[in-house]
Amino acid sequence: MTVKPTFPDATPVALETAELAFLADVRDGLSRPQKALSPKYFYDAAGSALFEAITRLPEYYPTRTEIGILDRSGPEMAALLPAKAALVEFGSGSTAKLRRLLRHLDKLAAYVPVDVSGEFLRAQAETLSGDFPHLRVEPVVADFTRDFDLPETLSGMPRAGFFPGSTIGNFEPAEAEDLLRRFGRILGVGAHMIVGVDLVKDAATLENAYDDAQGVTAAFNLNLLTRINRELAGRFDLDSFAHRAVFNADASRIEMHLVARDAQAVRVGSDTFAFEAGETIHTESSYKYTVETFRALAERAGWTWLQVWTDPEGLFSVHALRQD
Ligand code: AVJ
Repeated sequence: MTVKPTFPDATPVALETAELAFLADVRDGLSRPQKALSPKYFYDAAGSALFEAITRLPEYYPTRTEIGILDRSGPEMAALLPAKAALVEFGSGSTAKLRRLLRHLDKLAAYVPVDVSGEFLRAQAETLSGDFPHLRVEPVVADFTRDFDLPETLSGMPRAGFFPGSTIGNFEPAEAEDLLRRFGRILGVGAHMIVGVDLVKDAATLENAYDDAQGVTAAFNLNLLTRINRELAGRFDLDSFAHRAVFNADASRIEMHLVARDAQAVRVGSDTFAFEAGETIHTESSYKYTVETFRALAERAGWTWLQVWTDPEGLFSVHALRQD
């Protein structure tokens, strides 16, 4: 659907349905006392490429640490899962982590990547099928934060969920609990889950991981403003905003903000938003757990906690859960 909203005194643009939702969220977020934007908008093509670059930064330990855990403990994880299972990955990102697990899951009946982007899913399914010709890939186009049904063809197969990357950290703890409960509903009784969760650690390590020396994370954060400028006829001056990452120890989360360097008014389409000098837009929270706080959360969500694997330094954790 294409509609033509009127943007008096601004560049006339035709917005698609998705952009209208983005505009509504931006309006709402920038009208709050603490201005905020959802981290889900980071991932346009440029943002996804910047995130890939983040995962290779020396300061950003989560990706390589989780891959190390999957490499070392993959055989134990595989032994825990039933044979001929369907493996459902919620929000399939890059296939790097899945491949680590697949190596050990020789008796997998099907792999079910779930993602909102059908195009991304198709490309991913194609490359995987090339590398694992005997693997049955059944992509599902869905938003995993809402209820959805698994394909009928999976009925009767034991199910296992895979949720790596500490994506769960992007949700408020109450939302994370709801999400795990929903995964339980979707997968059914008897299902297993393998979940990657970043661990609490000293503030300096955390803050460096989200504010790297090369400025890649800063570019990732600022790209949100570039995206608003391009897609919503925004007039953000990128040089007027700075990247900030702080560990909020009370809430156990890293917060990313965009800080207005000086007082200014910014147009987005037909709206104008006023900023005081030093005022921030809260763009992301990344919650950090201990093994115990995550175990308690999973149990509140109705899962039986089975086991955890960590790296020798205790930076990151991978948990196994079962729904009894
Ligand atoms: C994709 C949500 C796991 O929180 O570490 C990385 C996103 N933001 N650097 C994270 C992110 C800034 C990442 N997650």
